[in-house]
Amino acid sequence: MFERLELQNIHYEASDREILKGVNLEVKRGERVAIVGRSGSGKTTLLRIILGLLEPSSGSVLINGKDLKSYSREEICSMASMLSQRSHIFSRPLRDNLLLAKPDASDEEIVEALKKAGLEDFLKNRSLDDVLGEDGNLISGGERARIALSRLILRDPELVILDEPLEGVDKEVEMSIVKNIEKFVKNKTLILVSHRLSMLSLAEEYVILEEGIITEKGKLSEHSSDSLLKKFIDAEKKMTEKFMEE
Ligand SMILES: Nc1ncnc2c1ncn2[C@@H]1O[C@H](COP(=O)(O)OP(=O)(O)OP(=O)(O)O)[C@@H](O)[C@H]1O
Ligand SMILES: [Mg+2]
Repeated sequence: MFERLELQNIHYEASDREILKGVNLEVKRGERVAIVGRSGSGKTTLLRIILGLLEPSSGSVLINGKDLKSYSREEICSMASMLSQRSHIFSRPLRDNLLLAKPDASDEEIVEALKKAGLEDFLKNRSLDDVLGEDGNLISGGERARIALSRLILRDPELVILDEPLEGVDKEVEMSIVKNIEKFVKNKTLILVSHRLSMLSLAEEYVILEEGIITEKGKLSEHSSDSLLKKFIDAEKKMTEKFMEE
């Protein structure tokens, strides 16, 4: 059972550049943490290290006090799973695209997961036998995002990792996805990365990552007035106000 994730002084270098410069972070069971940072600050890199998909240049990742390296790929996958920035869709039937997440899932389970991800209407016009096209070119960006979410729902990991799962979705789909994720992550541990405030509202704690270093951490009320999180919130407010004026 997942109890605790610890990142100890994580450094990551690629092509002679230091992308992560000594990241320390602890996430306990049941916590919901967002990592907030500008584009290129190292968020995706950090998530990939947490999942053991990238090896840090130095430092350790511990799960339940044990080095991540001592876990098998299967053990990690059954504990933690990530919804990525742009999930791959295979030119195979919808069913196969979900069986990837859980090879022994029944059609009923698959349909249930698709509905939980907000694809009830989509299923009215499509069947599980429908082929989704080369890299999903026969579905929309919003449908892709929700198919990816239904994969995560089928996997049902204890530690849920989200990396900007709302790329290419409109505001209505965004609202429905956020609501569905909120239901899904109840009683789970969540680490999320997003630039969208709707997604960020799912977190209780916010970690600011700037150029590979954590500069602030805490609840929104605990952040300083010049915290990047507050700057992002202000920028969004100003953009909305400007739109309303015009
Ligand atoms: N293998 C690599 N070789 C060289 N540079 C890399 C490599 N992987 C990532 N980078 C660089 O590391 C930096 C951090 O990348 P990362 O994808 O972690 O950013 P991010 O915070 O997730 O950004 P975004 O918000 O745009 O998704 C970027 O400048 C990126 O170009
Ligand atoms: Mg990223």
